[in-house]
Amino acid sequence: MKRLITLICLLGLSAPVLAAGGAEPPYSFKPQLRNDASLQRGAKYFMNYCSGCHGLEFLRYQRMAKDLDMPLELVEENLIFDGSKPGQHIHTAMPAEEGAKWFGQAPPDLSLTARSRGPSWIYSYLLTFYVDPAKPLGVNNVMLPGASMPHVLWQLEGWKALAPHDDEDHGGGHGPAKPNFKTLEEGSLNTAEYRKVAGDITNFLAYAAEPGKVDRQNLGVKVIAYLIGLFILAYLLKREYWKDVH
Ligand code: HEC
Repeated sequence: MKRLITLICLLGLSAPVLAAGGAEPPYSFKPQLRNDASLQRGAKYFMNYCSGCHGLEFLRYQRMAKDLDMPLELVEENLIFDGSKPGQHIHTAMPAEEGAKWFGQAPPDLSLTARSRGPSWIYSYLLTFYVDPAKPLGVNNVMLPGASMPHVLWQLEGWKALAPHDDEDHGGGHGPAKPNFKTLEEGSLNTAEYRKVAGDITNFLAYAAEPGKVDRQNLGVKVIAYLIGLFILAYLLKREYWKDVH
């Protein structure tokens, strides 16, 4: 019986891994949904570098300002570029037909990408753009071969080429092998700084995919504390009642 229960628990735990399928992304990222500073930076990068092509159809500016603890006036002044009202959803400035014409397909809405692809996938995607003269935009991507998105962060990261693997570089034996890159041109940031930017953007997209998550977790903790309190009270009450029976 014990074995059967253990087996069921293990299957339950492994289900999300099995369901996710596909190869594991080479760079992993764990969202920090309570790190407001990172989320605020991510929001700023997203509005500056991504919202020209991608929207977040399920998120309103107002909600974002409140959740990330940003003054609404600051958001209105600095992050709303298309004249939207704070109560409106974060639409992209790019009409879908134009996007399809320019890139072969309209840039997708990114509201749910952190859920469908996973944060590590997005993070790895942002870290693996490389120069590929055979492609129409001159770039390719390890996570999405043939991607029709330009390397929009090139000024920060610079340009790199995919280099053949040297034998030692297998991610130190942990996790999937990392692709090997050769820098062609430096950007304004070094590798660690660029990864931090990619991390902040990924963090923000993880938040955008589930804006209520932190609230829900807080509520969960309160409910559990309440149940524990109730349990103790019930136990004390039981002792009180049964004291005289024995
Ligand atoms: C110039 C337009 C443009 C900009 C700016 C842009 N993208 Fe994209 N993006 C695209 C296009 C087009 C695709 C579709 C690529 C494909 O499927 O080949 C895409 C795809 C993606 C995907 C993959 C979605 C999926 O599930 O397949 C992610 C993630 C993404 N972009 C993130 C970003 C982020 C983050 C930024 C800002 C740093 C950004 N993009 C800026 C055009 C753009």
